[in-house]
Amino acid sequence: MDIAVVGVGYVGLVSATCFAELGAHVHCVDVDARKIEQLNQGVIPIYEPGLEKMIARNVTAGRLRFGTEISKAMPKAEIVFIAVGTPSDEDGSADLSYVIEAARSIGRSMTRYTLVVTKSTVPVGSSEMVRKAVREELTRRRLDIDFDVASNPEFLKEGNAIDDFMKPDRVVVGVDSDKARELITSLYKPMLLNNFRVLFMDIPSAEMTKYAANAMLATRISFMNDVANLCERVGADVSMVRLGIGSDSRIGSKFLYPGCGYGGSCFPKDVKALIKTAADNGYRMEVLEAVESVNEKQKNVLFDKFSAYYNQDIQGKQAAIWGLSFKPGTDDMREAPSLVLIERLLEAGCRVRVYDPVAMQEAGARLGDRVEYATDMYDAVKGADALFHVTEWKEFRMPDWTAIHKAMATPLIIDGRNVYEVPSERGFVLLNIGSSSI
Ligand code: UDX
Repeated sequence: MDIAVVGVGYVGLVSATCFAELGAHVHCVDVDARKIEQLNQGVIPIYEPGLEKMIARNVTAGRLRFGTEISKAMPKAEIVFIAVGTPSDEDGSADLSYVIEAARSIGRSMTRYTLVVTKSTVPVGSSEMVRKAVREELTRRRLDIDFDVASNPEFLKEGNAIDDFMKPDRVVVGVDSDKARELITSLYKPMLLNNFRVLFMDIPSAEMTKYAANAMLATRISFMNDVANLCERVGADVSMVRLGIGSDSRIGSKFLYPGCGYGGSCFPKDVKALIKTAADNGYRMEVLEAVESVNEKQKNVLFDKFSAYYNQDIQGKQAAIWGLSFKPGTDDMREAPSLVLIERLLEAGCRVRVYDPVAMQEAGARLGDRVEYATDMYDAVKGADALFHVTEWKEFRMPDWTAIHKAMATPLIIDGRNVYEVPSERGFVLLNIGSSSI
């Protein structure tokens, strides 16, 4: 089957590559000529384990190619996926201009029946806007070509994207025609053979499913952060409470880890967008409003602990930061808790020395010379008055405490991910989330 994917961002590139791996011939299109040129030279614009090799394999096999013109892909493509970005507008709603422009470009070059599928995370009703945009372009060209729209939201996680795509808990597809259903079924056939569930539903429900899933996951995290903060105040240990409640099968053990707030390109944006969709429809999502405000507060918790430890006397203190990306396995720093922490530290007149296994370049672009860049995790802690563990990269898991003790000015560890038990007999002080109080 021949398909096209418009937008080679995170979701677009991973989905296109995986569809090619499953046997489809995939033509990827993006308006960013530089990105396309890089991809054609084998340079991958994002960090995602396993992706580079999979792209190379499928390009060599002739199943995956990259270009800037959708018109070159349209004559053959039976399905076109729209996977362009939907950033937050200032009022929190999803900015659909890229999605609509993609739909228009599809309409401008459609030559045969095509199924236009939205993979970007778009609010309920967006597929209808896609249909309207395509139809307007066809009418302008005085053409009466039959086409369908569908919604196929993507649930992949950064850092685990290929596995999430290839072995999904479910594939959600919103369709309103038999033809669309058949095409999607044949595209996903290799996965159906592996017994993965494809859940067909109406288009608005598919669009809503993506937001509801992310909002539910964000809710679990903010709830646990709230519980953790209370645990500290009443002398309970949130790690025990997490085990205690997570073993109830109705609750489940995943996504119950308290920390220094959720970040990334999805949760913050999608929670805001769902609140806005509700408001536009005369409804208040009160739970989600709280989820958002708890998260904002949580991103400040590490700084507050540091400041409280030193009785607010922190000007001139040196802070070491381990981990800058919003989570391990990615160099993505969008909405990362590290950014809030660093801003607070700089505002308070602290010196900040940072280290991340893959996000140093990204950090350089965002923070410039306002912080110092360490060459490795031990270099970061030299002379530090506190070590902040912000992103739980594997290489931070079992550090050499003796070397750290020697290097730090004050052996204060502020663990935003509850990973450490430090040897207290050496004079270390450990502050974490939900079991230590200051
Ligand atoms: C998320 C969804 O998981 C995915 O299904 C959707 O398609 C896109 O958004 P992603 O943003 O890549 O994926 O990261 P995820 O692993 O879900 O983590 C999101 C944030 O939540 C991170 O900042 C992480 O540190 C935080 N988190 C996650 C917690 O604080 N506690 C947890 O228990 C789990």
